[in-house]
Amino acid sequence: MRILSGLQPSGRLHIGNFFGMMEPALKLQHEGDAYYFIADYHSLTSVHDGKALRSYVRELAIDFLACGLDPDKCVFFRQSDVPEHCELSWILSTITPMGLLERCTSYKDKVARGIQASHGLFAYPVLMAADILIYDSDIVPVGKDQKQHVEVTRDIAIKMNETFGEGLFKLPQPRIQEATAVVPGLDGQKMSKSYDNTIPLFEEPGPLKKKIMGIKTDSTPVEAPKPVEGSSILALYKLVASQSDYDAMVADHLNGGVGYGDFKKRLLQGITDYFAPFRARRDEIIADKGYVDKVLAEGAEKARAVARKTLSRVRDAVGLG
Ligand code: TYM
Repeated sequence: MRILSGLQPSGRLHIGNFFGMMEPALKLQHEGDAYYFIADYHSLTSVHDGKALRSYVRELAIDFLACGLDPDKCVFFRQSDVPEHCELSWILSTITPMGLLERCTSYKDKVARGIQASHGLFAYPVLMAADILIYDSDIVPVGKDQKQHVEVTRDIAIKMNETFGEGLFKLPQPRIQEATAVVPGLDGQKMSKSYDNTIPLFEEPGPLKKKIMGIKTDSTPVEAPKPVEGSSILALYKLVASQSDYDAMVADHLNGGVGYGDFKKRLLQGITDYFAPFRARRDEIIADKGYVDKVLAEGAEKARAVARKTLSRVRDAVGLG
């Protein structure tokens, strides 16, 4: 079973990325043949600063390794080290109906949020299809916002198979973990950089405290019971707390007598404790000069060997070269 997923290096990773994609992906690295990559070609649609992009790539690699990605168990690489993705993307784009891309909601969302409406942004799902199909992936662990893109990938694969021969591409399945399909941000909307509501994975203690204590709450008095539904404090606490601590916080909401300040303090402690071991590992990785470059170089070599093979099969089928 081949598992594949990617993350964009377009800023600091947040706990939505962690619980929505990284944690499920980390579990799956023990269950199959996993390929995880840093989608830097995709990030060019929003990051137009070479120095910044390079540093985001590095930070993302460090963070993913710190969270438990094991380069002996899976292939971890940078997308732009495998330029075959771009060639396949072009081939796929020639059979991708415009309507399929026009229906993608993320293009419209991103433009509405101020990202430049470029051709690359519009064609983004085709490059994503190439990322997935070039490794003959079976399963793609993602958060809910990427589901439509995996469905587009399936549609493109079906069209390629109908046009150039059945069996040319495997049809991948999205794998979405229901409980963390949409991790809420500080304001209760989906956690996303463009909503400015994120909790970065490795936020420093001072800014982390400021963010958590600044979560907007209603004006229910301390003594009164508090609503459980729609509480982003509770939803976030559920991700990091033990079941008994979470149940205790729910009970304190229902019974009243405990204020929001107290709930926020528990959430802050929960997040700090949950990520503490990863933070320690992160410091070790940063101190180990050359480690990240070595991992990415080895990953690129392995990924490229697979990608080249698929691309040559596709070139053959479509009549190139
Ligand atoms: P990206 O970088 O926006 O997000 C990376 C992963 O994090 C998930 N995610 C969330 N999950 C739950 N709740 C949230 N609030 C939340 N925010 C983000 C995303 O669903 C995603 O799984 N297009 C992709 C990168 C990509 C890719 C691929 C993924 C490029 N090629 C091929 C899979 C396969 C993206 O922008 O993810």
